[in-house]
Amino acid sequence: MTRLIDVTVPDIGDYKDVPVIELLVQPGDHITADDPILTLESDKATMDVPAPVAGIVRELLAKVGDRVSQGSLVMKIETAEGGTAAAAAEAAQAAPPASVAVPMAAAPAAPPPPPAAEPSAPAALPPALPPGGKVHASPSVRGYARELGVDLAQVRASGAKGRITREDITAHVKAAMSSGSVPGKTPAAAPGNGLDLLPWPKIDFAKFGPIETQPLSRIKKISGGNLSRNAVVIPHVTNFDEADITDLEAFRVALNKENDKSGRKLTMLAFLIKACVSALRKFPEFNASLDGDNLVLKKYFHVAFAADTPNGLVVPVIRDADRKGLYEIAAEAAELAKKARDGKLGPADMSGGCFTVSSLGGIGGTAFTPIINAPEVAILGVTKAQTKPVWDGQQFVPRLILPLCLSWDHRVVDGVLAARFLVHLQSVLGDFRRISLEG
Ligand code: COA
Repeated sequence: MTRLIDVTVPDIGDYKDVPVIELLVQPGDHITADDPILTLESDKATMDVPAPVAGIVRELLAKVGDRVSQGSLVMKIETAEGGTAAAAAEAAQAAPPASVAVPMAAAPAAPPPPPAAEPSAPAALPPALPPGGKVHASPSVRGYARELGVDLAQVRASGAKGRITREDITAHVKAAMSSGSVPGKTPAAAPGNGLDLLPWPKIDFAKFGPIETQPLSRIKKISGGNLSRNAVVIPHVTNFDEADITDLEAFRVALNKENDKSGRKLTMLAFLIKACVSALRKFPEFNASLDGDNLVLKKYFHVAFAADTPNGLVVPVIRDADRKGLYEIAAEAAELAKKARDGKLGPADMSGGCFTVSSLGGIGGTAFTPIINAPEVAILGVTKAQTKPVWDGQQFVPRLILPLCLSWDHRVVDGVLAARFLVHLQSVLGDFRRISLEG
C-alpha cells in the first residue's frame, strides 16, 4: 500500500513570498527523507527544503520562479504506507529547512559569478553523474557552486552517501582551470584561465602546540563568503584623506550637553551618514551599482553602516537618510546597532543599501582599507579622530583630525572622482553649515 503525501514549505522564519530558484527533484525520482527537494532564495538567504519523507516524487506543484511561503504546497510524494510515515511527514513539515545558507547579512543575494571561475565542464573530466542522476549537496555547497558557476552534476562527490563537498567543488574548478591551460606553459601564462589558486594549506596545528577549534558563527561564514567574493571580483582602490572636525565635534558635544536630560544623543556616525548623503548627491556614480554593462544610478539614499556584534559583522541600513534629520539617524542607528547585537536584525533591516560607512572611530586605528559591500561601489572607513598640530599659516594649532578611508570600485569610479568625493566630505565635515546650503 502506498500513500500520497502533500509536501508544503516548512517554517522558514520571517521569509515570505520567497522565489523558488531550483527544483532538485523530478517526478519519478526516488528520494529519501531529508533529501533536498527544492531551493528557495530570498534577498538574504538561500534555503534547501528537505523531503519530509522517503518515497517517489509524483507531482511537482511549484516551478522555478514561483514565490512560496510557509505552508505553500510544492509537491506530492508517494510513500509506503507505514505506521509512522504520515507522522514523520508531519513532523518534518513542522521543522525548519535542513540547513540554511544565508548569503551574508551585509550582502545581496545572487551575486554575479566571479569572472575568475566560470569553468564549464572540462572535456577531460567525465560527468560525475549519470544522466538524470541526483545531486546531493548541502545548501552552502550549492551556494558556493552557484557563486562559481559550477554545474553540480559535473562534480565528483567524495562526501558521505555521495554528497558533494565544498572541497569537491574547489577541486573541480582547479581541474577545469588547469585543463584549459596551454600545454607546456604554466597555467598563469594561459589566457583567461582565472586565479589559478593553490589549495588552502592543510596543517595539523596540534603538532606545533595546544590548540582549540571553534566553529565559525553563521554570520562569519556568510559574510566570509561574500567578503572573499567582493575582494576578488571588485578592483578595489582606497583613497585616504583627513577632515578637520574640531568645530563639528565641539558642536556635537555642546548639543549632547544641552540634551543631557532628555537623553537625545548625536553621534559622529550620524554626521558622517549625513555628510555621505551630501557627497552621494554631488557624485551620483557613488550611489550606483553595476548591472552587467549598465550602471544603475539610484535616486534614493539608503546608507548602511557596519556594526560589530559578538557573532561577527553585520551591515544594517538607514533608509532615506536624505530625508531624515541627524537626531533621527542617530536614534535609528543606535536602535539598529542594538538589534544587531541582539541578533534580531531581519532581512529588511539589511537590504537596499547604496553606500556603507564603517566606523572604527570609537575604537582606534589610523587607517584601514574596507572591502566594498557589493553591489555597492564604494565604502567609507573612518578611524579615530586625534588632535594634531595643524599649520594655520602662522603657527601650529591643535585641531581634531578625522581620518577618512574611501574604497571604491575602479570599474565604476576613478581616482579623480574619489579624491573629489573625499574633498567634498572634508569640506562638509569641516563646516557642517554647508549642508544647509543644499537644495
Ligand atoms: N573618533 C574618535 N572618537 C570617536 C569616533 C571617532 N571617529 N567615533 C566615535 N567616537 C567615540 C566618541 O567619543 C563616542 O562617545 P561619545 O559620543 O559619548 O563622546 C564613542 O566613541 C562611542 O561612539 P558611538 O557614536 O556611541 O558609537 P560609534 O558611532 O563609534 O559606533 C557602531 C557605532 C555601530 C558603528 C559601532 O558600535 C561599531 O560596531 N563599530 C564597528 C564597525 C566595524 O566593525 N567596522 C569594521 C568593518 S571591517
